[in-house]
Amino acid sequence: MSEQPAEYLFDADEYARIHAAERLFDEGTKRLIGALDIVPGARCLEVGAGGGSIADWLCDIAGSSGLVVATDIDTRSLEAITGRPNLEVRRHDIVKDPLELDHYDLVHVRLVLEHLLERDAVLEKLVAALRPGGWIVVEDVDYVSGVPVSDLGAVEHERTQSVRLEVFAAGGVAHYLGRELPARLRAQGLEDVGNEGRVWIMEGGTPGAEWFRISMAHLRGRLVGPDRLTDAEVDKMLELFEDPNWAAFSPIMVTAWGRMPQGRESPRGSA
Ligand SMILES: C[S@@+](CC[C@H](N)C(=O)[O-])C[C@H]1O[C@@H](n2cnc3c(N)ncnc32)[C@H](O)[C@@H]1O
Repeated sequence: MSEQPAEYLFDADEYARIHAAERLFDEGTKRLIGALDIVPGARCLEVGAGGGSIADWLCDIAGSSGLVVATDIDTRSLEAITGRPNLEVRRHDIVKDPLELDHYDLVHVRLVLEHLLERDAVLEKLVAALRPGGWIVVEDVDYVSGVPVSDLGAVEHERTQSVRLEVFAAGGVAHYLGRELPARLRAQGLEDVGNEGRVWIMEGGTPGAEWFRISMAHLRGRLVGPDRLTDAEVDKMLELFEDPNWAAFSPIMVTAWGRMPQGRESPRGSA
């Protein structure tokens, strides 16, 4: 297929999809960041902050003496957050726009790197933004686990999933990035690198299946076509996502973390 890689397959109007992902992933993100030594007064950076639920929560962690910078190419949802004097919303393209050096105690980026063709350079930029001792937490999915659980819809799920991954690949989305995250953080010279992967059984009608349903409906225009799916196949899968008798394993949500060694300046030097 000769499709040009897109910068970002999902347009930022897709807040329903982003909020569905927040319902699924926020609990794990908060538990893992909560286990790091981020203290009041911390400077936190939330990149590609989307609906803003994690940026909002980080404002409590950073406290009134700290700061949370929430960036996105589309900041409408972030600007709707009120009553957070320690929140700075920044319209910012992480690929093109500059970032502070040696500045943050925490950098968090979830479900963003997998979409970016420039993910190597972006990760380097995010690491360079860390102060010595600062943590980076990166989260991306890995679709290796997405196999059917129920007989109902098993064939349909496998077929639509394989075309969906084809479309992702053609659009430049790295749908197996999750497995690479720990090694990528180690390659940046970070220490205390750790990881956790989370999988659930997506049953029709639950938030996991809803995330997939919204995402498939949104991608219909790319999924349907010669050598791809028919509209009827997409419609059938959308129905299955709502059927309580349908189930499949979710992709793995991989969270990986690492910290900038004390005494090490960012590879680019200080600002
Ligand atoms: C799948 S959503 C994830 C949102 C949020 N991080 C979360 O996990 O709930 C991807 C987000 O990245 C943003 N994004 C895409 N390309 C970006 C870029 N080049 N710079 C900054 N944000 C970007 C999108 O606008 C969107 O809000």
